Amino acid sequence: MGTKTANWDDETAQDILRKKATLPGALLPVLHDLQARFGYINADFVPEIADALNLSRADVHGVISFYHDFRDRPPSGKIVKICRAEACQSMGCHKLENPVQDGSVTVEPVYCLGNCACAPAVMIDGKTYGRVTPAKLKELLS
Ligand code: FES
Repeated sequence: MGTKTANWDDETAQDILRKKATLPGALLPVLHDLQARFGYINADFVPEIADALNLSRADVHGVISFYHDFRDRPPSGKIVKICRAEACQSMGCHKLENPVQDGSVTVEPVYCLGNCACAPAVMIDGKTYGRVTPAKLKELLS
């Protein structure tokens, strides 16, 4: 999900919620749309989602924290997704964690970016890069 953060706006969020609330299993489509629109799902909006879908707040929080693609606060800095699936693991993706530990980026694991032939792969703000070394990653982030 190559999302950018937009300012949260309750009215737009309500619109999204209204449009999807009647679907069977509406929770995931609602969360996906909110995440795609704003880059996160405002934790303050969880009670409204829960009420509209007849769920408990704990249910909604549980789903948001279960899926790596969802977050309940705006990400800080660039969003770096490091692939942790098999091909990238075998090419040493774990070595890419260190260069991004400086707090100015949001790091998320993903499981295959569809770029296995060029493992290890990362995605930075929605753009995929292959054969990434720790040095190359540092360069991409600077
Ligand atoms: S396993 Fe990493 S891109 Fe497919």
